[in-house]
Order: sequence, then C-alpha cells, then structure tokens
Amino acid sequence: MSIRKIVIPVAGLGTRLFPTTKALPKEMLPVGRYPAIQLVVEEMAASNLKKFLFITSRSKTIIENQFDNNVDIVIHLEQNGRLTDLDDLDYNRQGIEFFYTRQQVPPGATKPQGTGAAIAAAEHFVDNEHFVVAYGDTIIDSPHTPNLIGRMIETHLKYNATCTLGVRLVPDQLVNRYGIVQPAPDEVLNAESFVIDDIVEKPDLEKTPSNLAVSARYIFGPEIFNEIRKLQPSSDGELGVTDAIRGLIQSGHTVRCVQLQSDEIRYDIGSHETYFKAFIDFALQDPDCGEAIKAYLESLTAKESL
Ligand code: UTP
Repeated sequence: MSIRKIVIPVAGLGTRLFPTTKALPKEMLPVGRYPAIQLVVEEMAASNLKKFLFITSRSKTIIENQFDNNVDIVIHLEQNGRLTDLDDLDYNRQGIEFFYTRQQVPPGATKPQGTGAAIAAAEHFVDNEHFVVAYGDTIIDSPHTPNLIGRMIETHLKYNATCTLGVRLVPDQLVNRYGIVQPAPDEVLNAESFVIDDIVEKPDLEKTPSNLAVSARYIFGPEIFNEIRKLQPSSDGELGVTDAIRGLIQSGHTVRCVQLQSDEIRYDIGSHETYFKAFIDFALQDPDCGEAIKAYLESLTAKESL
C-alpha cells in the first residue's frame, strides 16, 4: 500500500481573523513570500503526495487560481525572459494534480459544520484508500527529511494503523484549546511513534490525559467516514474530528501518534497574534530580505530600549 491522496479543508469562515478575512480567505494570507496554502502544498509535495483535494466553499475560488496556470502571467514572464520565476509553481511537472469540491452548508445552518463535515466531503475522492488530511491554515515548518508527514506515512504503513496523528507538547495553559491524546499504558513517549487509547477535545487542565495536542495533520483509513456518519453535531453545530477518532479507538482500530521534533514548528495562522508571528518568522528566513528584516526589527528594539 502507498499513500498518494491528500485532503486539505479550506472551507471555514475564518471568523477569528475578521476583518482581515472578510473577502480574502485566511489560507491565502501571505506568510513571508508565499500564501499559507502554498506552504502547506509544498510540505505535502515533499512527501510525494500527488493527488490533492481542496474542500472549499463559494468564497474560496481564489485558492483554485493560485494553483492554476495564469496564461497572462506566463506570457508576460516569457517575453521578459523571467519564466523561471514560475518554477516554484510548476506542480504539473512534479506530477501533482489538484481537485476541488465544495463543503455544503446544510439547510437551516448559518455556517459550515466543521472539519468532520469537511473530511466527509472527500469520501468519493478517497475511494477506499488511506489518505492524509492537512488543515489549510496550519504550516509545519521542518528542517528534516522526511518531514512530519513523511514520518507519519512511514509509521502508518509500518504498523498498519487505521489512523496516525501528528502531535506536539503544549504548555498547561493551552490544553483546553486542542484535541489531547491519551497514550496507552507502557507506551514510550519519546519513541518514533506510540499508540493511544483515548483522545479528548479541549479538556480542563485537571482532567487532561496528557499535554500532547493534535497538530492539524492526520492520516486516515476509509473507516473514518463511518465514524463521522455516527456523529451528532456539538453545541456549536459542528462535527468534530476528535470525536470521530475516538469512535475509531472504541471500535478497536489502532490509532498511533508521531511527535513533532523540538526543531519543527507548528504555525497556526487562525488568529491575528499567531498569524503575525508566523509572518515575521518566515520573513526573517527569506533568502533575499531576511537579513534586512532582522536589522529592521533590531533597530526597533534598540529604539524601544532608549
Ligand atoms: P478552523 O476551525 O481553525 O477554521 O479550521 P475556521 O472555522 O475557519 O476558523 P474560525 O474559528 O471561524 O476563525 C481549520 C481548517 O479547516 C477548515 C478551515 O478553512 C481551516 O483551514 N474548515 C473549518 C473547513 O474546511 N470546514 C469547516 O467547516 C471548518
């Protein structure tokens, strides 16, 4: 078995980033030189994933344009001898195909039904294969080969898992913001991967089973669709992927976790503070202007300390 398919949910409203995201999808916000979604695609392409399905909505067509050949730009660059500027965007040459489907908002609902519903929209595309899910508003910056997704794929295949999660350690004050996993007894947490026997959504600190939070990267077998079908919407009308994973565990399926390494950084651009930090970090790494941005920030700090 190999894993070729990746599902990227981008159909959320991005309300925490209003007014920035009133007309511009958060996944298109620049993080340094590239829109966030392109950094996610690059991360997945590095692990040899070839078939990409975006779960979109009517306000997200600009994402399709990002991965389409813009003939006007091609002609202009060709005439100016700058066609190589587009090399970064030439996914066709890498054998990558992009597909799009829309997450439907059910009649009577005022917003999309959450990431569980987004994943459910991929069932036909997935066609009984195992597949990756990566949220379009989260970048995992890794200096390693294989990167996190690459290691998750290796683990998933090696242990014949039904589900493999990317997880990272979070401080106590953040456990109530994420899905938190409960490692099975006797599992070695610093091993390359470990089995879990439960997962809880946003637990109180007193009740948290660990400080290991799910980090927007998943691999699922097709069994996940049955678990999503069994879900009832939560109080905010959403179908949560955490509950579906819990269903997998309770039905006897193996769920494993792979941890981010200490030098791998998860950037969630879903709030202004986290988005601004992500932009600054990527601007600092920019090969052309990183040094200038660093000098600029240092000059600001020097002014402040006067
Ligand atoms: P979030 O829950 O962080 O995004 O989803 P959101 O709902 O857009 O954010 P707020 O709370 O309103 O600010 C993580 C990823 O899943 C997608 C989002 O677009 C984002 O990339 N998503 C979310 C969907 O595709 N469908 C949904 O119903 C919800």
